[in-house]
This record gives sequence, structure tokens and C-alpha cells, in this order.
Amino acid sequence: MRFQDKGVVVTGAGGGIGRAVCLEFAKEGAVVAACDVDIAMAERTVEAVAKEGGRAHPFALDVTNPDAVANGMAAAKQQIGGLDVLVNNAGVREIVPVLELSYEEWSRVINVNITGVFLCAQAFAREVIAAGGTGAIVNLASTLGVMASPNRAAYTASKHAVTGLTKEMAMEFGEKGIRVNAVGPGVIRTPMTERYFQSEDYAETIRSIHALNRWGEPPEVAKAIAYLASDDASFVTGTTLLVDGGWTAGKKL
Ligand SMILES: NC(=O)c1ccc[n+]([C@@H]2O[C@H](COP(=O)([O-])OP(=O)(O)OC[C@H]3O[C@@H](n4cnc5c(N)ncnc54)[C@H](O)[C@@H]3O)[C@@H](O)[C@H]2O)c1
Repeated sequence: MRFQDKGVVVTGAGGGIGRAVCLEFAKEGAVVAACDVDIAMAERTVEAVAKEGGRAHPFALDVTNPDAVANGMAAAKQQIGGLDVLVNNAGVREIVPVLELSYEEWSRVINVNITGVFLCAQAFAREVIAAGGTGAIVNLASTLGVMASPNRAAYTASKHAVTGLTKEMAMEFGEKGIRVNAVGPGVIRTPMTERYFQSEDYAETIRSIHALNRWGEPPEVAKAIAYLASDDASFVTGTTLLVDGGWTAGKKL
């Protein structure tokens, strides 16, 4: 039980990976603040955690709203008894060619995927430092934080920014006792990617891009996040751990 009675905040907790993350930390004894802009989805995650005998509380939180983030982090701290871990998981994506990408589509992805990470990490770190504690932050980057794929300009730019911001915050927070890392998942089957699996041909393509010849499942990402947040990773900071089934290892001939 690596997280017994630890306070863990998860954003985007109602989604595919977010829900698995909440279940994983709760299984290891944490008290989880399950935050999502969609409160009904956060509540479903809390029900799933309770069903497994874990502890979680739902929070309505839009990660792009600075005041809501600062107030939400303070409220979460009260409710879950302290802040030890933040998982910046909330994310959105648009699949549109650069020439057709609107300012609104670009801004939505940038605001949620990178401004949201900045705001939540800043609010978390301020609370932890003010309390004289230590902590760990894990950000959701992507394989598209280290390479590109057509029609995903805003997403790719935002995830490259997440890997950069992870390094930057690791440098600034290291001496203050806060480690900052990221994970870079390959294709994981969740509501975000569900449309890939509507056609058998496309699902086969998705399978074949990974060296392991399959796509990933949310708990496989959640376990990597739990590792980075735990004392098992006590000398790991500023890195992005690719959890991508070997997608970025190379190209098949
Ligand atoms: N699924 C994949 O293949 C994959 C691969 C690489 C990276 N990721 C990243 O993992 C994270 C989770 O992805 P997922 O596949 O579980 O997606 P998902 O769509 O299933 O879940 C995303 C969650 O984020 C929430 N959210 C959206 N905007 C928000 C906001 N402004 N404030 C708070 N919450 C908000 C949504 O309501 C949703 O519950 C994302 O950051 C995504 O970019 C996913």
C-alpha cells in the first residue's frame, strides 16, 4: 500500500484513463479527489472506487479557470486531508488539418492540455510548499509529445509543451521536495479514442503501429503513473515515461 492515507488529486477523473488512475491510487490506500468539468462523470468514478472499497470524493473543476483551480485545490485539500500527489490528466483533442483548424479549436486544446496543467500544478505546488510538505506531480503527455501525427497540430503542440513544462517544473520544484514527471501513452482504448475502433481496418492499423501489436488499456497507464508518484521513483524527476507499447521505438519495414 504505497499511498495509504495520501491525498491524491486527479483531473479529468471521469474519463477512461482518469477513472483507472483513481481506482489504482484508491486500491493502494489513497483518498482521491476525483475532479472533472463533467461532475456526473466524476461521480461515476467515485461510485466505481467505492464499489472496490476505496475512498474518493467528486469535484466539479474546469482546469482552464484560474480562480476555480486555486479554490478547488484548497477545497480538495480540506476534503481529502492533505495534498501529496497531483495527476494532471484532463485532456481534449481535435482531429483537423492545420489549414482548416479554427482559432477556437486551437485555443480549446491549448487551454485544457497545457494551460490547465500549468494552473493545476502551480496551485498544487503553492499549497504543498505553504504546508511545508513534499509531493509528486504526474502529467499526461503522449507519444505526440515526442513525435507528430498529421491532423493533430494543436494536440501535438500541447503535448510537446507538457514534456517541456514537466522538465521546467522539475527544475524549479526539485529543491522544494516536489518531483514532476510525465507519462506518454500510445493508443489507449478510452472514450477519446473510441472512434478508432468503429472500423475493423482502422483498429488493425492502430494495433500494428505498436511494437507489441496491440493497443493499451487504461490500467496499464495508471500503473505507470502510480510508479512515478510513489517513493519507488524517489530519484526520478523531469522525465517522460513512454507507455506506448513500443510505438516510438521505431518504424516497421
Ligand atoms: N487515450 C489515449 O490513447 C491517450 C494517448 C495519449 C495521451 N492521452 C492523454 O490522457 C489523458 C486522458 O485521456 P483519455 O483517453 O482518458 O480521455 P477521455 O476523453 O476519456 O477523458 C478526458 C476527461 O477530461 C475531462 N475534461 C475535459 N476538459 C476538461 C476541463 N477543462 N477540466 C477538467 N476536466 C476536463 C473530460 O470531461 C473527460 O472526463 C488526456 O490528457 C489525453 O490527452 C490519451
